[in-house]
Amino acid sequence: MKRIGFVGWRGMVGSVLMNRMKQEHDFSFFYSIFLSTSQIGKVAPYFIKNKQDLVLQSAWDMELLSSLDIIVTCQGSEYTNVIYPQLRKNGWSGYWIDSASCLRMNQNAVIILDPVNQTVIDQGINNGVKTFVGGNCTVSLMLMALGGLFVNDLVEWASVSTYQAASGYGARAIRELLIQMGQVYNIISDSLNDFSVTVLDIEAIISKFSKTNAMLVDCFKKPLIGNILPWIGEEDIVYEGQTQEEWKGQLETNKILNTTRIIPIDSVCVRVCSLRCHSQALFIKLKKNLPLIEIENLIQSHNEWVDVVPNQCDQSLDKLTPLSVSGTLRIAVGRLRKMNIGNKFVTVFTVGDQLLWGAAEPIRRMLMKLL
Ligand code: HSE
Repeated sequence: MKRIGFVGWRGMVGSVLMNRMKQEHDFSFFYSIFLSTSQIGKVAPYFIKNKQDLVLQSAWDMELLSSLDIIVTCQGSEYTNVIYPQLRKNGWSGYWIDSASCLRMNQNAVIILDPVNQTVIDQGINNGVKTFVGGNCTVSLMLMALGGLFVNDLVEWASVSTYQAASGYGARAIRELLIQMGQVYNIISDSLNDFSVTVLDIEAIISKFSKTNAMLVDCFKKPLIGNILPWIGEEDIVYEGQTQEEWKGQLETNKILNTTRIIPIDSVCVRVCSLRCHSQALFIKLKKNLPLIEIENLIQSHNEWVDVVPNQCDQSLDKLTPLSVSGTLRIAVGRLRKMNIGNKFVTVFTVGDQLLWGAAEPIRRMLMKLL
C-alpha cells in the first residue's frame, strides 16, 4: 500500500482538501502520514482506522519524507522552496503534488486540471514527470468553465475581467473582510434606525471611517468592504503593466493546454467582497462564427460540473452568483451572447468556488490518479 504524506492539511485549502477526500472515501486507498511544521508529536487528524499514523510527524524530517511514495502539500511556496529542491537533490523520485505556485512553470512540472488537460497529465506520467502542481485559481476556473471552447481550439484570444473573492488571499483575508463588515455596521447602526439621518449622511460616516486607521486593513492594505481593489498579487508590475495575477492568465492557460500557438489572454484582476468564489467576465474572439446554441452545447458538454445558465434575469440572479456556487463543485456559466462588435465575438460570465476547483479538487484527483 502506498504511503502518502500530507503537509499543510490544516490550512484553508488543506482543510477543503481533507473534507473532499473524506467525502469521497479516498483515505481507504492508501496509508496516510500527516506532517506538521510546528505541531510535531501532537495528535493527527483522524480519518481512517489502521491506515494512518495517529501522531503528527515532522514536515522537516528529510529521512521520513524520502521514504514516502507521494507528498501532497498545501503548505505554500515557502515550504516548497526549502524542501522540494533538497528532496530531489537527494535523489527522491516520489510524486510531489503541490497547491503552491512556485513550481508551476518549472519545466519538469505539469499544471494539473484533469477535466481540461487529462492528455497532458497522462503524457507527463508516461514521460516520467514526478511533479504535479495545481494552477492559479482564476485560470483553472476559467478553463473549467470554457474548456469546451479552448480544447476545441476555437479561442482566437480572450480578454478577462475578474471579480476575485477574499479567500484568494487566504483565511486571514476572509476574517479581515468580516471584521470590516462588523466595524462598518457598528459605526452606523444607530443612524440606520434614525430616519432623521439621511443615507447620504450614513455614506459619509462610512467613507470617513474607512479612511481612518481604525479600520483593519492588514491583508489588503485598503478596505475591501464598500470598495473594490484593482490590484492582485505582489506590489511589483510583472510584465508590461500587468500585475502578477494578470500575468499568470496567459502563461498558465497555455501551459495547461500545452498549446503550440500561444492563445493571447489578457486580464484585469480585481478583488471584490465575495467570500470564496471567483467570478470572471470574458470577452472572447472565436476563430469561427458559430451559432450561439452550438457554443452553448460545446461549453455544457465539456465536463460534468459546468452548468450553463440561461441568459435570463431570474436564472442569472439565482444560479450565476458566488452565493449560489459557494461550497459546490458547480461551475456556473451564463450571460452568454454574441456581441455587437461582430459575429465571432462572444461575452460570457462565469463563477466557480476558488477553494474547490480553484485549489483542492485538482490536487485530490491527481493523488487518486497516481495510486
Ligand atoms: N492569486 C489568487 C487570488 C489566488 O489572490 O485570488 C488563487 O490563485
